[in-house]
This record gives sequence, structure tokens and C-alpha cells, in this order.
Amino acid sequence: MTTRESSPATSLLTARTAEACADAVATTARVAAEAIAGAGGPFSGVTPGPLGREVAAIDLDVPTTGMAAVLDEVRELYLRDAVYFHHPRYLAHLNCPVAVPAVAAEAMLTAVNSSLDTWDQSAGAMLIERRLVDWTAERVGLGPDADGIFTSGGTQSNLQALLLARDEALARHADRPRAEALEQLRVFASAAGHFSVQRAARLLGLSPDAVIVVHTDDAERLCVDALVSAVSKERRAGNLPCAVVATAGTTDFGSIDPLTEIADVALAHDLWMHVDAAYGCGLLVSRRRALLSGIERADSVTVDFHKSFFQPVSSSAVLVRDRATLRHVTIRADYLNPVEHADRRGIEDQVDKSLQTTRRFDALKLWFTLRAMGPDGVGELFDTVIDLAASTAGHLRLDPRFEVAVDPVLSTVVFRWVPSSPSGAGTVHDARVDAANTGAREAVFSAGEAVVASTKIHGRTWLKLTLLNPETTLTEVLEVVDLLGDHAERAFDAAPDLVATGREVA
Ligand SMILES: Cc1ncc(COP(=O)(O)O)c(C=O)c1O
Repeated sequence: MTTRESSPATSLLTARTAEACADAVATTARVAAEAIAGAGGPFSGVTPGPLGREVAAIDLDVPTTGMAAVLDEVRELYLRDAVYFHHPRYLAHLNCPVAVPAVAAEAMLTAVNSSLDTWDQSAGAMLIERRLVDWTAERVGLGPDADGIFTSGGTQSNLQALLLARDEALARHADRPRAEALEQLRVFASAAGHFSVQRAARLLGLSPDAVIVVHTDDAERLCVDALVSAVSKERRAGNLPCAVVATAGTTDFGSIDPLTEIADVALAHDLWMHVDAAYGCGLLVSRRRALLSGIERADSVTVDFHKSFFQPVSSSAVLVRDRATLRHVTIRADYLNPVEHADRRGIEDQVDKSLQTTRRFDALKLWFTLRAMGPDGVGELFDTVIDLAASTAGHLRLDPRFEVAVDPVLSTVVFRWVPSSPSGAGTVHDARVDAANTGAREAVFSAGEAVVASTKIHGRTWLKLTLLNPETTLTEVLEVVDLLGDHAERAFDAAPDLVATGREVA
């Protein structure tokens, strides 16, 4: 074992080392900034094999000679091949370039390292988080009894919302044995809803048949008539409909379910209404706020600031209309959050409302951002990418090489390359077109030219651009589209027999 003399830059952050720590953070931030400024593309095209060997070759039992050496090593192992979301040709998933004030805040919240479980670990941090929860709930319109909590992401927010819905339903059906009621609970979600709803149902011990998938229209919006029929059918079968999950901003099309109509159904059938606005929450500060009309009637709402508020991961919250429902996650421990805390201070500990115990002060990033840029500043960024998606789709519709799935609502564009002379039809031809689109996506990725996503509609492959960089221009997006068109055409021409025999297109 190696023994090392500690220097201020390699020891714990204390009063003695605070200055040296600030220098180390500044140097590290500079190295990251240089990598970001110098990134020639969104990705190097590296594959897991060679990079994995470099990572595996590091002997973690033998430290480097200090911070400068750590940075040199990390430049090679991480920064050289990172996927850069700020790059104009990163157009793939729901990852955004991050607001500068939020990045600065990250350094502060990590240094102070508050933990948002109890007042005696967080003090003012807790008040800042609560203020942001209140502000967001007000923007949603949830009313005077609203509350909520920051979470690690949309997945956790959806889980917590469904836990509350489950326990409210179990309380309503307390006359039945708990196991029986648990087996009978039903949650309704659209076919375009996020998969975390299914996972949440599993984690919550519901029946494997608990999530009833309600079909959508061609634009991926939940069909309200189908919802009503599904609820009635489950009731007739003796099951217990307990919640409906509406999505405000589906992952593929950015579609927004008919929230007001769903709220009417929820009211009529006594369902908890959860709105997953992980993606669409940016509309709360945009000039398109009206698109969220009806969200104010939800019982709970997921908002992912790390998607459309340009926050670094993680930054999300779950909001509830009635703060009393948060009691379902409260468990008291004498060593942490005894009931006297709330009595003495008139303010509950944040841990009482959270699935986590130790919890980062992610709220500080949003606070910095709102105070430095204002909500309108953030909303303008989101509006810009929504406009960009509309212009991109407009161009694609005029380009005979491509087909657009649906007019974008938010900032995604789903489209595919199609051959210029539709010389074929049938399964083999379709497989060849699908393979050409997949091949185009893989080709731009492995060449480090661009990062784009893909999805399936009725079993067929489509390409997807998720536009979250307000500095990306239409010209830059169309350059990527041209690259995709060229690659797809080559893949299509190169592969007729390969596809027919089930082999992959290169
Ligand atoms: C609609 C929707 N809900 C929830 C999530 C999950 O969010 P997270 O990745 O922050 O857990 C996503 C992620 O893309 C999403 O698109």
C-alpha cells in the first residue's frame, strides 16, 4: 500500500484547505471549459472496447502524484470521448446544454454539501428548496395546499406520485384486505407514456396487469373515449381504478394529452390524476403556457428541470395538490426527524416528504438560474428550440427524401428517409428502408458527425431529433439531415440482399 503526504489540494475541504479547494475547482472547471470549447463534434465515435481497456488499465490502488495528474488522466479517459450535449450536432435525447449560473451553483452546493433531509443539515437550503417548490406549484396552478419535493429525476417523481395515488386508494378501500385491494388497483396510462410508469407499478407491488395501456391518436395523444371505456371495463371486472397518468410532452412526439378532458374523467371516476410533465414543464415559463391548460387540475405533477429548464442532471420535482397526501412517505426516526421537530419549529423536515434520506441541494442550481436569468429568460430558450423544431419539420416536409411522422408540438422531430423511387413494397422492402435509417443513424454516430436518436412507430424505424440547444441553427440541423440522407441512401443501395437474409446493414 502506498502512503502519501497530503497536500491542501488532495485533502478534505476545511477552513485550512478552502483556498486550495477553490483553486482546484477553478482549474478543473477550466479543463472542462477547454474541452467543451474545443470539442470538434458531439462525440469522438469511440467504441466501448478500446476505451474500456484504457479504463481497465488504471490501477485504482496506486494513486497519481496529485490533482494535475488526475486531470491529465481524466482528459484521456473521459473528456476526450465524452458525448457533448452543448454541441450543435448533438440532437438525440432529452439532454440539454446547461445554464451557466446552474453550473456555478453546482460547485457551491457540492462544496457546502448540505443535505436536504432535516433543518439541522440544511437550514436555509431547505427554505430555498421549499420556495422553489411553491413557485413551481403556483406556475402549475395547484392551489393553496400544494407542496412537493425535489427528486433525482422524472423516474423517481413518477414513482413517488404513483405511491401517493396507491396509498390514497388503499385508504379509500380500507374495508378490503390490503393484499386483495393491492392486486385489484388499476392505473391508466397512454401507450406513449414513459416506461417509468410501468416500472413504478412493479416497484409498488401492484399486479403485473395493473397498468392499463390506453391507446392514442396518430399524434400520440391519449384517447379520452378509450380511457372511459377502459375504466368502465375494469370496474365491471371488479377491479379498482385508482389513477390516470397523463403526459405533457411525450418522449417521442412531445405531444400533450388532452389534460382538461382527462381531468373531467378523473373527477367523474374518482381517479388520482398524475401529469408527467417531465419534458413539457418548460412551457410553464414559455409564451406557449396555454398548451398546458388543464394541468392545474392534477393531483400530482412531475417536472424535470434537467430537461426543459436547462439544468444539469439531476434536477426534478414532484408536486402535489394536497400536501397532506405526502404523509404516505413519512416515516419517523428518533435519530432524525422525530415528531417534536415539526411541533417545535412549525416546519416539517424535508425528509418527511421524500423517498430519499440524504439528498443533494439541487434546488440551488434552479435558484441561481432564475435569479440570474429570470423565468422569461429560461422560457425564451425553450421557445427557441420549439420554433427550431417547427422550421426543421417544415423543411423536411418539402424534401422528397424524407417523411415526417407528425407536426412537432415541442422540440422533437420524428422523421425517416424514404427511397426516391418506391420500387418495392412488402416486408423485405420495409426492412430495407428500416435498415437504411438505422444504418444512417449508426453511421453519423460512429463517424462522430452527429448524434441522433431513433424510435419505432407501428414496428417501423424512424429517426428522431430532440432539439434542446437554442444556439443550434436551422442550417446546422439541415446539415445533419443531409448527412443522414446520404448515409441512408448508401445503406439502402448496399444492402438489398443482406436485409432479405436478415443480416445487419453496416
Ligand atoms: C415523459 C418522460 N417522463 C419521465 C422521464 C424520466 O425522466 P428521468 O430520465 O429524469 O428519470 C422521461 C425521460 O426521458 C420522459 O421523457
